[in-house]
Amino acid sequence: MQLGVCYYPEHWPRERWAQDTRDMLAAGISTVRIGEFAWSRLEPRPGQLDFTWLDDAVEMLASAGLKIVMGTPTATPPKWLVDAHPEILAVDENGDVRGFGSRRHYCFASPVYRELSERIVRLMAERYAGNPAITAWQTDNEYGCHDTILSYSAAARSRFPEWLEARYGTVDALNDAWGTVFWSMEVTAFDQVEAPVGTVTEPHPAIVLDYRRFCSDMVAEYNRLQVNTLRAAGVNVDIVHNFMGLFTEFDHFDVSKDLDIASWDSYPLGFLEQGAHDDATKAFYRQQGHPDFAGFHHDLYRAMCKGRWWVMEQQPGPVNWALSNAAPLDGMVRLWSHEAFAHGAELVSYFRWRQAPFAQEQMHAGLLRPDGSQAAAWQEVIAVRDEINVMADAAPDLAASTQSPVALMFDYTAIWACQIQPHAEHFDALELHLLWYSALRRLGLDVDIVSSQDDLKGYSLIALPCQVIADDALAKRLEEARDSGSRIIIGARSGSRTVDFRVPEQLSPGALTGLTGVTVDRVDGLRPGAEPALTLANGHRGHALRWRDLLDSERQQAKIISVFDDGEPAVTEHHSVTYLTGWLNEDSMVALFEGECRKVGIAVNPMPSGVRLRRRGPLCFAFNYAPEARRLPESLVPSDGYLVGATRLPPAGVSIWRDA
Ligand code: GAL
Repeated sequence: MQLGVCYYPEHWPRERWAQDTRDMLAAGISTVRIGEFAWSRLEPRPGQLDFTWLDDAVEMLASAGLKIVMGTPTATPPKWLVDAHPEILAVDENGDVRGFGSRRHYCFASPVYRELSERIVRLMAERYAGNPAITAWQTDNEYGCHDTILSYSAAARSRFPEWLEARYGTVDALNDAWGTVFWSMEVTAFDQVEAPVGTVTEPHPAIVLDYRRFCSDMVAEYNRLQVNTLRAAGVNVDIVHNFMGLFTEFDHFDVSKDLDIASWDSYPLGFLEQGAHDDATKAFYRQQGHPDFAGFHHDLYRAMCKGRWWVMEQQPGPVNWALSNAAPLDGMVRLWSHEAFAHGAELVSYFRWRQAPFAQEQMHAGLLRPDGSQAAAWQEVIAVRDEINVMADAAPDLAASTQSPVALMFDYTAIWACQIQPHAEHFDALELHLLWYSALRRLGLDVDIVSSQDDLKGYSLIALPCQVIADDALAKRLEEARDSGSRIIIGARSGSRTVDFRVPEQLSPGALTGLTGVTVDRVDGLRPGAEPALTLANGHRGHALRWRDLLDSERQQAKIISVFDDGEPAVTEHHSVTYLTGWLNEDSMVALFEGECRKVGIAVNPMPSGVRLRRRGPLCFAFNYAPEARRLPESLVPSDGYLVGATRLPPAGVSIWRDA
């Protein structure tokens, strides 16, 4: 458990660097990320390289014993580069060029930008590979931030047909797979397929899905180019990228295959504002963030690189980019830091060291205020520094994380499929995954997020909120898990499309038909306000929103467990596999999961509202996200006392104890 910070030496006079370094050490910081936006200082004019200032900064930090994460500067191609090579710019769906003046203005598919990126990354790596102070490299910065994955540049459009040829082999296979006979969309050559924009009405969903896969692959290729360049120049330390929250525009599992560590940038207050929660929830958690927002992403990114993950950027005060930017409640920076460690983070690094008095992020807090004095979060970081030591003493061999009893499947293609074909207003599959996650976490459960390719062995409960595209291989692995004792719970819409975005031959849930014992007859899209009521097996009254599958009673093999008031099945069961026909409200999911857990012997601990629990090895953590004090349930109160905190959790309170 280490602390870090994001530092921009190029923003500050050199005379300040020594004091910054001393202050970092005083705050318990061990790791400093630098460099990721510094291209215009590394190469002010084409070919005129200046690494001397970076050499000095590296030397300064290294001589203080600080570890360095070196960022490649490709998220901000400088003005001279853009002027010389305007073809590198991304183009949006309206055909508008995403111009110079902020950041992330390049297109991932651009061969010219790939060449230029390879060059600057190689030059940096040749200079710094092997420097013992540099313990990791970060590729670029936040792939996709500011909506930059889908690009319709000439480079992207001309690469797409090639990508299609590699996927389908022949044009006939493509026409067959997509069903282009519909609306006379058949093509006789791959390069007749156009990017799915500018159409009169909705474009063909299979083309949209493939364009999204293609753009996702462009990110993976681009990242691989950077990783390979670093490795070829002799970098033999960890390579990491910083992913984002609430961001699903490319397949992070794919990109992570080339990384050693996945990291993400945790801004709980900004994301609360941007997320889908209702106004009352947003008001209640205004200064704390939603209790499951960070946890969900911690668990998601832990799944990427075999359990190795960091928080690369942790919000240390107000951010500048949400609709309204709240100041965190006192104590929340400490709480967020501990929660990351509880979920297995190796490092929590704050963004940023010192608030900038200039440019776009003037309103974004740092650990220091613009004048260099300590900001509100400073004392909280000091507290975390000390508490990490207490934990290290109590649990010296703390593993990253042990396997949780519950697996929640998360699949980027499923999210895209629902965006392409929502069918019911506000059907947002990411929101549905967050809702299932919250329901599990409200029961005090630890959750592992798994991809549809992951090993499912050893989980007592496997939850698939909305696995739209399910193939036979997944069905087989789920059957094996079921046969070895796992319970499986599958949500509506799962299995409803093939990989080619077709309705499966055996109808929905396609490959999951044998497992679930149900066949979907038709779908009842629920407009806002249409919320058919249901009664669960334990008597809980709830409702569905947004979606309801209506089942074909003649083909049904599953047992009906609960029904809606109009008699339609709501929950079915078939040999330890539960199927939900609807998007159920969160309280219903809590009630349902409680029953599922009981059936499979998982102990639950219903949490007071706003309180969350997480175990890491022998350590148990409790967090209070409510703006009011809460008490830990009696059943959890440790007999040996607490390492940190107490049974009463004040607002933003953290309690940590060793589980017997
Ligand atoms: C992240 C980004 C940082 C900074 C920060 C502000 O998205 O990586 O460079 O902009 O947000 O919250």
